[in-house]
Formats: sequence, C-alpha cells, structure tokens
Amino acid sequence: MDLFEYQARDMFEAHGVPVLAGAIATTPDEARAAAEEIGARSGGVTVVKAQVKTGGRGKAGGVKVAKSPDEAKSHAEQILGMDIKGHTVHRVMIAAGARITEEYYFSLLLDRANRSYLAMCSKEGGMDIEQLAVERPEALAKINVDPNIGIDDAKAQEIVDAAGFDEADKPGLVDVMKRLWEVYRDEDATLVEVNPLVKTDDGRFIALDGKVSLDENAFFRHPDHAALEDKEAADPLEAAAKEKDLNYVKLDGSVGIIGNGAGLVMSTLDVVAYAGEEFGGQKPANFLDIGGGASAEVMSNGLHIILSDPQVKSVFVNVFGGITACDEVAKGIVGALDALGDEEDRPLVVRLDGNNVEEGRRILAARNHPRVIIEETMDGAARKAAELAAAAN
Ligand SMILES: Nc1ncnc2c1ncn2[C@@H]1O[C@H](COP(=O)(O)OP(=O)(O)O)[C@@H](O)[C@H]1O
Ligand SMILES: [Mg+2]
Repeated sequence: MDLFEYQARDMFEAHGVPVLAGAIATTPDEARAAAEEIGARSGGVTVVKAQVKTGGRGKAGGVKVAKSPDEAKSHAEQILGMDIKGHTVHRVMIAAGARITEEYYFSLLLDRANRSYLAMCSKEGGMDIEQLAVERPEALAKINVDPNIGIDDAKAQEIVDAAGFDEADKPGLVDVMKRLWEVYRDEDATLVEVNPLVKTDDGRFIALDGKVSLDENAFFRHPDHAALEDKEAADPLEAAAKEKDLNYVKLDGSVGIIGNGAGLVMSTLDVVAYAGEEFGGQKPANFLDIGGGASAEVMSNGLHIILSDPQVKSVFVNVFGGITACDEVAKGIVGALDALGDEEDRPLVVRLDGNNVEEGRRILAARNHPRVIIEETMDGAARKAAELAAAAN
C-alpha cells in the first residue's frame, strides 16, 4: 500500500527524521488558515502541495510556493480538484517553505532479485531521478543493504562516500539515513523514497518529499496501518470483499471468476481470456480466490460480491477440491442463488473436481437451478462462460 506524502511525512516525524511543518487542507479556506499558522514559523512562506499518489506533481503544477495566506488560498483553489496523471486532488498539504541550497535523492527498497535491500542515493536529486538513472547512471549510487544488519554507521558511511557528498555534509546525512532505515524496518515498508532530501541555507538536512510503500502482508503487526488506507479511492466492491476477508480484484471484463487457490484462479483468468477471443473478446471481470478449505458461507459471500458487479454477464466457478470440499462449494452456490432469488438471471457455469465431487454434483443436480450449468472440464467451462457472456451483451 502506497502512502500519501503527508502520511509519509508524519511517519518520518514519528521516527525522528527531520521534516517540515505541514498540515492538510481540503478546502481553500482551510488552506488559508493552515498557511497562516505554518507561515508564522517559516518567514511567511508556505508551499501548497497536491496530495496524490503519483510523482511529478511539481511539473504538473501541483506544487506552488505561496508568499501569503491569501496566496496559499488561491493556489489551493487552483490545485484542489486538479487532475494529475489520472488522480484527482482531494487534499493539499500546506508545508513550511524551505530555503533550499541543494537537492539530493535517497531511497531504500526491496530488491527481490537479490533477496536483499537496496539503497540508492544521488547528490543530484529533485524532480527527474528516472532520467538521471538512464542518462547518467554513475551519478546514482546503488548500495546493497543486508536485511539482517540494515543501515548502521558503517553502511550509511558507505552510501555517502559512494554518492560523493562533501565531507562536511556526511555526518548529518548519515544520521538522516539511519533514521530512514528505522522507518523502513519498523514500519515493514517495501519502499522509502525521499526526493528531494534537501540541504537548507542553515545547513540542515530535511526530507522534503516522501514516498512510502508498506508491506500489506505485515499489517497484522501494525494495527495502526489500517487507518492509513485511502478508503475513498478503493473500489467499492474490493472494499466490500476485503471486509469479508476475500481475495478479490476487480477487472474490466464480463466473466465473473471464482476459484480456490491463487494459482488456479490465475490460470482460470488465462483460460477465460483465451476462450473469450472467439466470442468477441470476452474477458475475466475479476480475480477471486476463496482459498483452501472454504466453507459454504465463503462461497456464497464470493458469489454475492461478483454478482454485485453489473459488468458481469456470466460467472465461472472453478473449484478443484483439495482441502476445499466440493459439497461445501455446492451448498454455497445453492445458498447464494436462493438468497438472490429470481431477479438474478445471470448464468453460472460450474466446474467441480476433486474432494467430495460426487456429493457436490449431487447437491447441484438436486437443486436443479435453471441458471446453473455444470461442465466437466476447465476448458469447456471457460468456453461456455465466455459464450454466455457474449450472448448477454
Ligand atoms: N516545502 C517546500 N519548500 C520549498 N520548496 C519546495 C517545498 N516542497 C517542494 N518544493 C520544491 O518543489 C519540488 C517538487 O516538490 P516535490 O514535493 O518533490 O513533488 P514532486 O516530486 O511530486 O514533483 C521540489 O524538488 C522542491 O524544489
Ligand atoms: Mg519529489
């Protein structure tokens, strides 16, 4: 999960990383009030910053310096509601204006290929680090960080040496990097990026812009991270699925998909997309993994979520019973269809195999629901589901 800049800023502050004063505003008047307060401590100058989860806000006109509270208000008027690379600005951060003398780049990330962490650092930070990495890779130091050791004094020293900072600046930068490592480790982040990390005219080093991605697999040990989620941006169906502990991702097609096990569901998506080509390009409408050992209730919850998507024209239930018993799946299907009643008229193609398959098929046959079609093979079922979706369009 990616954080907004203001959330990263607060997280940095909590770990002792030097940051500027900042406050969030959702209206121009709030922006004015915040600028009045924050500007009083920064020589009257503030910066109005669009809060969207994408880079390049500066270039897009989403970061503007204000010399007075009134100017902050008019900048906020302009920036709120703006579209930056497909992200609508709902909030701005009013940050204290910094007197910057230099802009650097620092990031710490998960390096999957090397089963390690990687620190990247450059004396030439600011807006275009991707361009720098391509055009002048020698100006971007890349230092491997052992996850068991992290960034200690020696590692931080190695980084500042490799990036070629002035001797006088090194101690201050070493301190900031060690603190950023603490953010990375203690918050279970997969990315902590500071661009720019600035030097101010009074010789301080400050994290001016922060980007943090958190590892959702570690949320169980961070109860406070749930509050950082951007509920507005979440797809409503994805949010509803999450509440029911379902592994659901909304996609753009017309064939709803339910399966057990991420691998099976992934290959089901492929098979449906392939079969769908023959029927005017029908595609999967979602990914939904009900997991191993799913009960009738989980199956039923999953169907409810999928059928709440008006884009869905047919559903493909693909279950290979291992820990999951096919009779539980069948009970879930019957239960969900009965609960939905006659108004639900979209067809359900079911392919069951494995554990308790005979009982599962018996339950479906006994209910003899007019919208349920049982298919023996995965390919056959995918083809049928795609064909039915095309017919409904
Ligand atoms: N609080 C601030 N004080 C002074 N200048 C700022 C401030 N915040 C941003 N800037 C300037 O704006 C540039 C872009 O801002 P940044 O927060 O990095 O946004 P983005 O990376 O999305 O473009 C920075 O490189 C810096 O030069
Ligand atoms: Mg930036």
